[in-house]
Amino acid sequence: EKGGYKHFMLKEIFEQPRAVRDTLAGRLREEEGDVYLEDLHLSDEQLQGIDRVTIIACGTSWHAALVGKFLIEEHCRVPVEVDIASEFRYRNPVIDEKSLVMLISQSGETADTLAAMREAKRRGAKCVAICNVVDSSIAREADGVVYTHAGPEIGVASTKAFVTQLIALYLFTIRLGRSRGMMTVDAGRALIAAVVRVPALMEEALKLNEQVEKLARNYLQARDFLYLGRGMNYPIALEGALKLKEISYIHAEGYPAGEMKHGPIALIDEHMPVVVLVPQGANYEKVFSNMEEVIARGGRVIAVCSQGDSEVASKAEVALEIPTDGEEVAPIILSIPMQLLAYHVAVLKGTDVDQPRNLAKSVTVE
Ligand code: M6R
Repeated sequence: EKGGYKHFMLKEIFEQPRAVRDTLAGRLREEEGDVYLEDLHLSDEQLQGIDRVTIIACGTSWHAALVGKFLIEEHCRVPVEVDIASEFRYRNPVIDEKSLVMLISQSGETADTLAAMREAKRRGAKCVAICNVVDSSIAREADGVVYTHAGPEIGVASTKAFVTQLIALYLFTIRLGRSRGMMTVDAGRALIAAVVRVPALMEEALKLNEQVEKLARNYLQARDFLYLGRGMNYPIALEGALKLKEISYIHAEGYPAGEMKHGPIALIDEHMPVVVLVPQGANYEKVFSNMEEVIARGGRVIAVCSQGDSEVASKAEVALEIPTDGEEVAPIILSIPMQLLAYHVAVLKGTDVDQPRNLAKSVTVE
């Protein structure tokens, strides 16, 4: 049942190109630069009528939400707020009939997310869910659903569910942008073209597996890790840190690279590996100089950069080179080395990768 892989998690990591193809299947209207989301149940008029989006989730799904904020604000120019479900439901959120509330949940059974949705509905918001499990509680109670179609995810550490949530967010962004007239046909086509290339880019990124397996043993003694990224890739730093914490039990923190100078830089020494997400793109120079600051203080840098970036490779202790075919989908491709690093460190530490201590696949308690 693990298809020849040692753990479900590794199987699920390698399944990702297929999972993404399934998320996209039947939904692309490439000519029109638009997408068809069969269970969204929101008309163009309804999408035009909203004045804000609030995305609510927990854990890894919350990291996907943070990427969603970037995508929607960038392409649709609608203000997006992102909230952790257990925070949202215990305050007095500004939500009304003009709000669109999006819930992201792999299982569709997370108690806090479900309760947050009920609260949002009570306040009159339209609720759309991004779920993996068909007919789950959240999917059933939402006004509309975008299923991720990743297939069953057995490993407690979310991998393929996360990347397909990201794909679902790109698709939703296209739909929202097109329906509100904020995205041109050409812009829609360009974003579709970018997501269509994702499975092939992922196949390429998965070739890092051997390199990551070999280098993992150099980091087993670390007590703490820092993960740095900026912009759309900052949530991937958070996700990389969460993966490592969950399965290897090494303490890790994700930080926006620009925040380092406001505190965490004090932690840097030769004992703390720092994972720096520095692909080509808008924030490249800024992150590059953040990386240099880490190196200048004796930090050990594991850089994740674009293929052929010899400048980064010559500075970092390790460079993991990913194919970046434009920066638009970088968060998705960067997720792969994050998953592989956490996985191999954990395997070498001998932890129970698929069933880490104290954790459940779906958290149905509040
Ligand atoms: O099923 P959900 O997406 O609602 O689950 C949310 C979190 O419990 C989940 O993402 C958790 O953080 C994972 N173990 C992450 O790997």
